[in-house]
Amino acid sequence: MAASTMVGVSSSLHTRATPAHGVVLTPAGPVAVLPGLRLSASGKLRKQERKLESEFVPAFTARIVTQKTRNSSPAAGERVRVMSVRSAASNPDQLRAAREDVKKLIAEKKCNPILIRLAWHDSGSYDKNISEWPKRGGANGSIRFSPELAHGANAGLINAVKLLEPIKEKYPDISYADLYQLASATAIEEAGGPKIPMKYGRVATKGPEECAIEGNLPDAGPPDPSDHLRKVFYRMGLNDQEIVALSGAHTLGRSRPERSGWGKQETKYTVGENIGAPGGQSWTVQWLKFDNSYFKDIKAQSDEDLLVLPTDKILTEDPEFKKYTDKYAEDEAAFFKDYALAHAKLSELGAKWDPEGGFSIDEEPKNEPVPEKFVAAKYSSEE
Ligand code: HEM
Repeated sequence: MAASTMVGVSSSLHTRATPAHGVVLTPAGPVAVLPGLRLSASGKLRKQERKLESEFVPAFTARIVTQKTRNSSPAAGERVRVMSVRSAASNPDQLRAAREDVKKLIAEKKCNPILIRLAWHDSGSYDKNISEWPKRGGANGSIRFSPELAHGANAGLINAVKLLEPIKEKYPDISYADLYQLASATAIEEAGGPKIPMKYGRVATKGPEECAIEGNLPDAGPPDPSDHLRKVFYRMGLNDQEIVALSGAHTLGRSRPERSGWGKQETKYTVGENIGAPGGQSWTVQWLKFDNSYFKDIKAQSDEDLLVLPTDKILTEDPEFKKYTDKYAEDEAAFFKDYALAHAKLSELGAKWDPEGGFSIDEEPKNEPVPEKFVAAKYSSEE
């Protein structure tokens, strides 16, 4: 029997295979390597092994960039030991391409606000006291299923789901969970906000039975707003400073009475050209521009055409919240810095990662071998 062969695999390798399985690119094309499997003469898997190939590796892009211990490709019949495998819930190249499509969608539809709200309502169902995924809620794409879309808090978000559907169809190797968070971070950045240090690889829920329970998102008019905000956001593992920073997302968008029950039918700031569908009441004058005007406006409360929800107002009254509201109204750079970190944290709540720990799409993979932890070793042949 041929000795095991170590095959280095680039960090750009991404598959839907689980970490227990490997994929190598042979001269005959990409091949799944499973416990004890061997390559056939053609370089493809043998008949009985094909089933496993299609079952575990429905789509992937793979590239061997180095073979540390040999100079030639694996030979037919030879056992291949995969040194390192990166599997992913989403394909990084497709994520990058989808980001460009999201930018075009935003330029055309001016839909930044609702894309941000969609992602926040997907992740905001998270309960840090529950360890089981997806029962714990969070950024898992479950908001696309009708039981969750029908939650009172999600009224209107079906429009955002629909807007992103063509992009999902075009890039099938992106998980819904990643797509929603990608669209939101892109929407912040395209509105002039900070660069969000995002990572990707969120596994998505597969069916309506995996939806979040209703009631985990905040109410805009609870009896005790500060107590309510703390209960809801602490349950997600977020703190006072993050509550205030994230509320700053209301610098974008509008409230519509027919959706949430809050806000005016329209104001002088929500009619006119180039604003997407008109109507509703905004928190700020330039509600398609991300800046710190939300904090200035909720402090001033001087314009009847601008919205201040009870949960916005409390940020100017509760001493701990007010500390941050004052700071962000004064110092936009401080707001941008804190917002970017809080948004990234929000986008990761409850996520199950594949690969473990997620990955960034902001740096192109370097064209050189990256030694990685050996995940498939225990399944490979040692004879
Ligand atoms: C602090 C507790 C929060 C409450 C009570 C709250 C409440 C609301 C309400 C009532 C609306 C109007 C929805 C409609 O009628 O269509 C809204 C819109 C919005 N919310 Fe929040 N929100 C909160 C936090 C957040 C957070 C953390 C984010 C994002 C990080 C966010 C982002 C948005 C955006 C962008 C919109 C505008 C949506 C659009 O124009 O379609 N909100 N929010």
